[in-house]
Amino acid sequence: MTQDELFKVLVAHCKEYGFIFPSSEIYDGLAAVYDYGQMGVELKNNIKQYWWNAMTRLNENIVGIDAGIFMHPKTWVASGHVAAFNDPLIDNKDSKKRYRADVLIEDYLAKIEEKMNKEVEKGRRKFGEAFDEAKFRETNPNILREKARYEEVHNRYVAAEKANDLAEYKQIILDCGIVCPISGTANWTDVRQFNLMFSTQFGSVGDEANTVYLRPETAQGIFVDYINVQKTGRMKIPFGIAQIGKAFRNEVVARQFIFRMREFEQMEMEFFLRPGTEMEWFAKWKENRMKWHVNLGMGAENYRFHDHEKLAHYANAATDIEFRFPFGFKELEGIHSRTDFDLGNHQQLSGRKLQYFDPETGESYVPYCVETSIGVDRMFLAVLSHSYKEEQLENGETRVVLCLPAPLAPVKAAVLPLVKKDGLPELAQEVMDLLKYDFNCQYEEKDSIGKRYRRQDAIGTPFCITVDHDSLQDRCVTVRDRDTMTQERVPITELRALIDSKVNLNNLLRKL
Ligand code: GAP
Repeated sequence: MTQDELFKVLVAHCKEYGFIFPSSEIYDGLAAVYDYGQMGVELKNNIKQYWWNAMTRLNENIVGIDAGIFMHPKTWVASGHVAAFNDPLIDNKDSKKRYRADVLIEDYLAKIEEKMNKEVEKGRRKFGEAFDEAKFRETNPNILREKARYEEVHNRYVAAEKANDLAEYKQIILDCGIVCPISGTANWTDVRQFNLMFSTQFGSVGDEANTVYLRPETAQGIFVDYINVQKTGRMKIPFGIAQIGKAFRNEVVARQFIFRMREFEQMEMEFFLRPGTEMEWFAKWKENRMKWHVNLGMGAENYRFHDHEKLAHYANAATDIEFRFPFGFKELEGIHSRTDFDLGNHQQLSGRKLQYFDPETGESYVPYCVETSIGVDRMFLAVLSHSYKEEQLENGETRVVLCLPAPLAPVKAAVLPLVKKDGLPELAQEVMDLLKYDFNCQYEEKDSIGKRYRRQDAIGTPFCITVDHDSLQDRCVTVRDRDTMTQERVPITELRALIDSKVNLNNLLRKL
């Protein structure tokens, strides 16, 4: 299966098994907005809990808040979003379709990279064991040609980005012969800036003065509450404030399913610190966050850092943690050293003092800040795409299984009476009653046991518990493991401990 096909299959799987539906589907959906179904919401909540507990429970100096989505409009002036939260847009005059100019160029660069990788794979097949990839990349004429082309376009792109040179964006697009995928033409408009914030009217009077924005990031809720939390929590620097919540962006190129949405959720933590110590904390949080990801067991090789060449207006260092999605390595999380940009601007615009008196140095200052920011939906996509497997079984059948990290699985155990009679449903219900306070369990009695196993595999349930006629006598049940498909006989009284040993989120947290 190609990566493209895998992605389509994944989207269909999400819908079929109640993970994700297009929003308002009966009206043909709403672009780049999705609903989480009965399975999706459980997986999403488990991801959020893993993050929240890792932040607020494992760090005594990090506390959480839940700020409003609507904020005073001046917030977005201070944060720079009114002036600078823009995407460079370009229209194709023939298809009337709109694109992000930077994305068109990045896609073009990605295609060159893909070509080089294909050439490497050809070499690997040709030379077998003796293949030396580094040497091949340095000497193969096709790769060298592509590399030169890549570097030329990349350097121009980085320079244009730095200078915010919209005319140069267009020139790169024209020089590279980038065409609209719909019309196939290069009949482009000029590139112009487009603000990504959604606005609406507050209260009943619809004039300009009442315009408020739907927050484009949760971070600003933390900055404006910083002084309240610091004072009421008697927090001493360094300390952090964590928040999980919705954010909204009028994305121009909203695509790749839940990778880029117009309504999405973020998990952000702002870590306030003494100016001058930010690089030390930036390095610590880079390491800490990578550990959190790798701890899930989805393969360290599927993550990498991507340090920013062009820094956002508020940052003096920034990196992305990228994950290997089905469409390649892409940003999953951002880690930014935001200096005192946000608190400094809020202090200035609000006229309120946001300084901290440091008892250790005897100085007052506006704290600096290191931010970690991850999209819940992107994390969901990372977990789901990595977990989806189509396995060939020895009997020739194929099984679709979600090998989710067990603590994140929506359903932890399925309780299945072998038949719907002879007192088996009653005993199965007893097992449900025993387990339901600790784990999200599902009771299923319809269809053959094989079909029920397949359904549970497809939603990633780590354990299937079958109650059979022997169970009535020996009070033991058959427990089937999702990944190995092995079965063992277990006394009902030992079920709770067995399931807990694999699915308890604390097992993951203890390894951090
Ligand atoms: N407060 C900093 C900030 O918002 P960002 O890089 O724009 O930084 C942080 O966003 C994270 O939020 C990204 O790494 C990504 O996981 C997620 N994210 C951003 N835009 C998104 C979108 N349109 N859809 C889904 N997730 C998004």
